[in-house]
Amino acid sequence: MKKIVLAYSGGLDTSVAIRWLKERGFDVIACLVDVGQKGDFQKAKKKARKIGASNVYVVDAKGEFVNDFILPALKANAVYEDKYFLATALSRPLIAKVLVEVARKEKAKFVGHGCTGKGNDQVRIEVSLSALAKGLKVIAPVRVWDFASREAQIRYAKTHKIPVTATKKNPYSFDENLWGISIECGVLENPNTEPPEDAYQISTDPQKAPKKPVYITIDFEKGEPHGLNGKRFTPTELINKLNAMGGLHGVGRSDMVENRLVGIKSREIYEAPAASILHTAHKELEALVLEKEVLHFKDMISSKYAEIIYNGLWYGRLRESLDKFIENTQKVVTGSVRLKLYKGTCAVVGRRSKFSLYNEKLATYSQEDSFDHTAAEGFIKIWGLPYKKR
Ligand code: ARG
Repeated sequence: MKKIVLAYSGGLDTSVAIRWLKERGFDVIACLVDVGQKGDFQKAKKKARKIGASNVYVVDAKGEFVNDFILPALKANAVYEDKYFLATALSRPLIAKVLVEVARKEKAKFVGHGCTGKGNDQVRIEVSLSALAKGLKVIAPVRVWDFASREAQIRYAKTHKIPVTATKKNPYSFDENLWGISIECGVLENPNTEPPEDAYQISTDPQKAPKKPVYITIDFEKGEPHGLNGKRFTPTELINKLNAMGGLHGVGRSDMVENRLVGIKSREIYEAPAASILHTAHKELEALVLEKEVLHFKDMISSKYAEIIYNGLWYGRLRESLDKFIENTQKVVTGSVRLKLYKGTCAVVGRRSKFSLYNEKLATYSQEDSFDHTAAEGFIKIWGLPYKKR
């Protein structure tokens, strides 16, 4: 029998896909990749078996997700179109990697995913697969099956005793992992409609957030967050803690119209409390320790790095090469940043580092001033020479 390893989420699409693939003669191996999404994986495992998967893998990829994907993106200050911390986009190349590993183990020649034909995720997964493995064939059931509507798909599910949890009450599409949640569909499709509160999953409405701010200190070592309020944590623990704290204070929401790789504009909202706090803190620390030229150059490549992630080009030489540069800059990104979380905002209130380039004696306007004011005169003369000439 033809073996296929199917990326499985436990949701309606991939559940129906198991049955649909079986009907087409495939031996289906479901593969659930744990990147920190909530959910009962044991239940999902049973469900996949019941629908007809011959084997189900649940792969805990959280550590790898943080170390090999989230941290490089954080060090790069990668944010797509100024608002999206790339949670979904970052998980796709990792999911593809796990699919390849399971396919090799199972000697499967086919891999499958539940992405639609008009999104970015199909591109990210398939480009990654083609970079990682030779000769694997991809089947994307959702892209090719011919259910006339969502209702028709639900009818199909019901006749085949596939449990359906999607309801009219829950009209949104979610994608969740450690780095954040992406939410689309339903009323959000009108870009002029304010997102209803029930669309948000992990953050408090800023209006209803605590009246008192909370102050936190994040410690970085070589660009990686390793401590909170003086206590050491792994980056994964830290992300979990900051999602809870930031979420409580309504931090990390964004509402955007983004440019998809496949040419359309889409409206999506995001919740990424930890990502938003860590990006703010990391950038602030860089401002303290990196020379102007390095900072400004790094700024130019941040948006490129975000595009690479967004556009599914993770496994390429450009990303690898940028990582080498970025890694070198992070040698001095060690220190602490103090932040104040309050009703949806995350404000920096302090920063310190043993690599700080800030010199109080040079900056001060007090008696302590050590800046050579007389040197300014000559500097201005030369700096302004071309302008005087013109
Ligand atoms: N627009 C985001 C991206 O392309 C997220 C896509 C998935 N969103 C979702 N709600 N299922 O990365």
